[in-house]
Amino acid sequence: MKLLDGKIVSQAVKDQLKTKTDARIAEGKKAPHLAAILIGNNGASETYVASKVKSCAEIGFKSTLLRLEETITEQELLSKLNELNEDADIDGILVQLPLPKHISEQKVIETIYVSKDVDGFHPESVGRMVQGLPAFYPATPYGILLMLEHYQVETKGKHAVVIGRSNIVGRPISIMLSKNEYPGNCTVTVCHSHTPNLKEICLQADIIIAALGRPEFLKADMVKEGAVIVDVGITRVEDASKKSGFAIKGDVAFDEVAAKSSFITPVPGGVGPMTIAALMMNTFKACEAKDRP
Ligand code: GUN
Repeated sequence: MKLLDGKIVSQAVKDQLKTKTDARIAEGKKAPHLAAILIGNNGASETYVASKVKSCAEIGFKSTLLRLEETITEQELLSKLNELNEDADIDGILVQLPLPKHISEQKVIETIYVSKDVDGFHPESVGRMVQGLPAFYPATPYGILLMLEHYQVETKGKHAVVIGRSNIVGRPISIMLSKNEYPGNCTVTVCHSHTPNLKEICLQADIIIAALGRPEFLKADMVKEGAVIVDVGITRVEDASKKSGFAIKGDVAFDEVAAKSSFITPVPGGVGPMTIAALMMNTFKACEAKDRP
């Protein structure tokens, strides 16, 4: 078993971006600038956004963090987004999800300019990704691809089973892995809550992407010897032994599955840091795209 170490790979990606950012600044060009919007007081969202802002600082990007009250109206939020859309210094905009119930996620996603959509959630970004056109790839699946590439995991001709069909992870990674390029050329099966024979399907998988959000769902008896396991889960479960009062659990029962796998991502320290590295890649690309007239 070899660990797919998201901390190491994300650091390598961020180091490369820092070198390129320093070079931009030495040439008199602007630093990439990410605007992040955090609404309300969701503990997990706070942690993710803080990591994104910290990564910007490490690389030499500018960041603007807008903390908005849970009670903000949809219209106020959309106006804020339009201001950021029109602000020439801002290259990328992200609104941390989930949103309060009274705000339409879809409207928010569709308001962000495609050119600043570094989360890759806008329908036009998704459509472009599906058709193989230049596009911002959603950060979590993009991060997974960067990690598979770093460890030169063979994907061609492999059977990839994706558990989960969310717009953020399951659906986009299933499309990316089926593309005629590396990492890709997989035969992909997408499983979800209505899949009756999940265990049998998982047992046929060379690669499993577990992205359903159920702690330690994937057990050793569901996994073929030598499979590659990517764990996207990050659920907080109560744990009185931790100072924070909770532990982070992935969707994979790590110890038992690791013993059968060829490669496996840990949680934490696997896909999570890669999501941030991929977001930084997208922000850099958004900035570079503006250099061209
Ligand atoms: N919530 C969970 N994952 C993500 C993500 O990748 N981007 C944003 N904006 N919100 C999220």
